[in-house]
Amino acid sequence: MKKTAFGVVGALVASGAFAAPDWSKVPQRKITVFYPGQASLEWVMNKPDHSAVPDMVDKKRTCAKCHDGDANQIGDKIVAGKPVGVSKTALEPTPPVGKAGFIPVMFQAAHDGKKIYFRFEWASPKTGANKLDPKNEVKLAMMFDGGGTVEGAEINGCWATCHTDLRSMKDARNDKTTKRIKNADLASGKFMDLIQYRSGEKKPVDGYVAEARHMEGGKALLKTEGKKEGGKWIVTFERTLAGGGKGDHAITADKVYNFGFAIHEDYTNARFHYVSLGYQFGLDKPNPDVKSYIDIQKQ
Ligand code: HEC
Repeated sequence: MKKTAFGVVGALVASGAFAAPDWSKVPQRKITVFYPGQASLEWVMNKPDHSAVPDMVDKKRTCAKCHDGDANQIGDKIVAGKPVGVSKTALEPTPPVGKAGFIPVMFQAAHDGKKIYFRFEWASPKTGANKLDPKNEVKLAMMFDGGGTVEGAEINGCWATCHTDLRSMKDARNDKTTKRIKNADLASGKFMDLIQYRSGEKKPVDGYVAEARHMEGGKALLKTEGKKEGGKWIVTFERTLAGGGKGDHAITADKVYNFGFAIHEDYTNARFHYVSLGYQFGLDKPNPDVKSYIDIQKQ
């Protein structure tokens, strides 16, 4: 930064107009999101359903380690109502006609020392019929923990929050029960920070998942933007690194954060979304040996 320009740059930062990163210089990472049906934490952690449980529990194998490459096939099977797992469970009792099983998403992230930016790009897939949320064609939510603060999130990402008794799930108690994590505690960081873009509303949604899901409280999410161009969606988030609101994690260079994201495509809601497996990110910390890890570089 040149001394002569300092006043100008300082003013831009103060007004919140600091330019978004030059995305053409930020590495892209393909992450396949897939249709999970009623694949709850309880299902994926139950050995009679899912043979991988001992590997997850004893060897700390992550979902992404085994499924980063076949998430598309899993989504295709589940959305069609086909039996899956050892127990041959149909994880979707009412297969939505014509709905795609997965979406390949190009994911990018960058930071500038004060803020973090996320960008998601995908081709809108073939759609189903029901408009469950007529206001929002697309919603995109991202969740992340406080750097290893949520039990199990280093293996399963968002599955830490996804239970079989939630609304629209197999053992739903009512139509209100939302995501939660075990032993939630805001003070010690045991919660998932949640940020969301909604295409039908201009206001960014900044919440968290603790003993239940809260869609407000956060102060970190400054901006969400989305546009559909030629059948492609591009959604961006701009968030402070510091956080500071209720249910905001501070993002610092000394930690590795567990995250996942979900896309509600085609006016849908509740569990009828596409979800990612669990991934990790850190700031300016290369870790090329871990495939599910993304190094977010300063721009
Ligand atoms: C050690 C490798 C491994 C890990 C880790 C793993 N899985 Fe699996 N998963 C499998 C295998 C193998 C199957 C095929 C059925 C079986 O043997 O249970 C499967 C099946 C599934 C299915 C049903 C689809 C099908 O084709 O049968 C879902 C959904 C699933 N896994 C989700 C997950 C999630 C979510 C996680 C993380 C919480 C996870 N898996 C972790 C190996 C793994």
